Amino acid sequence: NVFHGVDWTVLIYPQMIDANSGQVVSKYPRTICRFWHITDLHLDPSYHLAQDPTKVCFSSKGAPATHAGLYGDFLCDSPYSLIQSAFTNMAPLTQPEDFIIWTGDSPPHVPPDELSTDLVIQVISNMTQTITQHFPNLTVFPALGNHDYWPQDQMPDSTNDIYKAAAALWKRWLEPEALTTLSQGGFYSQLVKPGLRLLSLNTILYYGPDKVTINMTDPAGQFEWLEKTLEKSAQSKEKVYVIAHVPVGYLPFVGNTTAIRKSHNERLVAIFRKYSHVVAGQFYGHTHRDSIMVLLDEQGYPVNSLFVSPAVTPIKSFWEQYSNNPGFRMYLYSNKDYSVMDIWQYYLNLTEANEKQRSDWRLEYIMTEAFGLSDLQPKSLLQLGLSFMLPQSKAFDKYFSHFMVDYNSSIVCDGSCKVHQVCAVLYLDQQSYSKCASSADW
Ligand SMILES: *[C@@H]1O[C@H](CO)[C@@H](O)[C@H](O)[C@H]1NC(C)=O
Ligand SMILES: *[C@@H]1O[C@H](CO)[C@@H](O)[C@H](O)[C@H]1NC(C)=O
Ligand SMILES: *[C@@H]1O[C@H](CO)[C@@H](O)[C@H](O)[C@H]1NC(C)=O
Ligand SMILES: *[C@@H]1O[C@H](CO)[C@@H](O)[C@H](O)[C@H]1NC(C)=O
Ligand SMILES: *[C@@H]1O[C@H](CO)[C@@H](O)[C@H](O)[C@H]1NC(C)=O
Ligand SMILES: *[C@@H]1O[C@H](CO)[C@@H](O)[C@H](O)[C@H]1NC(C)=O
Ligand SMILES: [Zn+2]
Ligand SMILES: [Zn+2]
Repeated sequence: NVFHGVDWTVLIYPQMIDANSGQVVSKYPRTICRFWHITDLHLDPSYHLAQDPTKVCFSSKGAPATHAGLYGDFLCDSPYSLIQSAFTNMAPLTQPEDFIIWTGDSPPHVPPDELSTDLVIQVISNMTQTITQHFPNLTVFPALGNHDYWPQDQMPDSTNDIYKAAAALWKRWLEPEALTTLSQGGFYSQLVKPGLRLLSLNTILYYGPDKVTINMTDPAGQFEWLEKTLEKSAQSKEKVYVIAHVPVGYLPFVGNTTAIRKSHNERLVAIFRKYSHVVAGQFYGHTHRDSIMVLLDEQGYPVNSLFVSPAVTPIKSFWEQYSNNPGFRMYLYSNKDYSVMDIWQYYLNLTEANEKQRSDWRLEYIMTEAFGLSDLQPKSLLQLGLSFMLPQSKAFDKYFSHFMVDYNSSIVCDGSCKVHQVCAVLYLDQQSYSKCASSADW
C-alpha cells in the first residue's frame, strides 16, 4: 500500500513515497491540476472567552457556549482565530498555479438589527483582506451568499451598495467584464485559463426567503445570461465550472425540500441537463455539510458531478443534534478535459484544538481512497450513490460521517434520515426525487 506511513499533512502535491522502494509515486496522471474551496466563513467579531457562557458570542443567540475555546464553540460562528488558523494551515499546501473558489457567507448568524449594510460590507472586506494576505499570489473566485446581504437573504435583482462594494473589493481577482455583471446582478463569468471558464451564479435570487424575487421568473435575467454564456462556451469549445452559494437540488437533511425555490430548481436542472457536455463540475456551499450530487439526464444517464463543501464555521443551533468540524478542501482535476478527479478534504478537530490550544488541521479523507473510486466523474458518483442503497452500506456510513466532518461517530443515519440523504444524492428534479422518496423500501 503506497499510502502506508505517509504523513499527508506535509504533502503539498498528490505524490507519495512507496513504503517498500522509497520511490516517489503518484496515483494521479501527470496532467493533474488543483484548486481549493473555502466556504461559509461566518466571522463572528463578538466571539470572546467570557465568564458567562451565554455572552461568548452573539451568534449563539443566548444559548450557553459551554465548550468555548481559543478556536470556537459548536454553538458559535467562527472567531477570527479559527479563520486565520484555516488559512495559515492551508497556505503552505498551496502552489503558485492553484486557484481558490470561495462560495460566500462571511457575516455571522445574528438577528438583522445586530447588522447593517455597512457592517456586512465591513465583514466581506475583512475576509477579502485576510484571504489576500494569506494568498497574495492566487486568484480567488468568489460567489455571494445569502448572509452577504442586509437584511440577510433579501438580494435584489438590480444593482445596490453591496454588489457594488463586492465588485470594488474583488477588483484584484476579476476582470472588468466580470465586475460589471457582478455589480449589476451579483454574478459573473471569467476565463480561468484557456479552455476553462468559471461561472459564479447568484443563487440567492432563487432562494425561498428572498422576498424581493419571489414572483419573478428570471430575476436579474440570470437564467438568460447563464444559457447564453453556456452556449458561447459550447461554441468556443470551453469547459465550465459552476460555482454558487445555495446549491441546486434537494437538501440532504430534510425530506422533499429543495435548497432554492422548486420552480427555479426545475429551470436550473433543465439548463444544466441541456449543457451537461459543457459543465465539467459544480461547486456549492451553504448547507455547511459535506455532500455530493450526481445529475442524471431524462434517461437516467449520469451527466454531471456536483459537490457541496463543508463550512469553516462550526456553528449549530442549540436544538440541532449535530454540526460539522471546520473544513476546507482541495480538488484535483484533469488539465485535459477539466473533469474532477479527486477531493482532499481537510479539517480541524475543534474539540481537540481547544483542549490543546493548537490548531493542527489534518487531512480528513481522500474521496477516491475512502470509497474505492477511480475518479469523481458522474458515472463513478452514480455507482457510489447506488451502493448507498444497499442494506447496512458501509460506504453510506462513511459518507454520513464525512457529511458531519467527523463531528461524532456515534450518530447514525438510517430510516428516513438515510432515504433523504440518498435521494438527494441521485435525484435533483421533483419528479425523480418524489419517486425515489416514495418508493424507498431499501
Ligand atoms: C478583521 O476582523 C478581526 C476581528 O474583528 C480583526 O482582529 C482584524 O484586525 C480585522 N482585519 C482587517 C484587515 O480588517
Ligand atoms: C508571491 O510572488 C512573489 C513574486 O513572484 C514572491 O516573491 C513571493 O514570495 C510570493 N508569495 C507567496 C506567499 O508565495
Ligand atoms: C407574489 O404573488 C402573489 C400571488 O399572486 C401575491 O399575493 C404577492 O403579493 C406577490 N408578491 C410580491 C412581492 O410581488
Ligand atoms: C477529536 O478530538 C476529541 C478530543 O481529543 C476526540 O475525543 C475525538 O475522537 C476526535 N475526533 C476525531 C474524528 O478524531
Ligand atoms: C455523540 O452522539 C451520541 C449519540 O447521539 C451522544 O449520546 C453523545 O453525547 C455525543 N457526543 C458528543 C461529544 O457530543
Ligand atoms: C413532495 O412535494 C410535492 C409538492 O411540492 C408533492 O407533489 C410530492 O408528492 C411530494 N413527494 C413526496 C415523496 O412526499
Ligand atoms: Zn452559511
Ligand atoms: Zn448560506
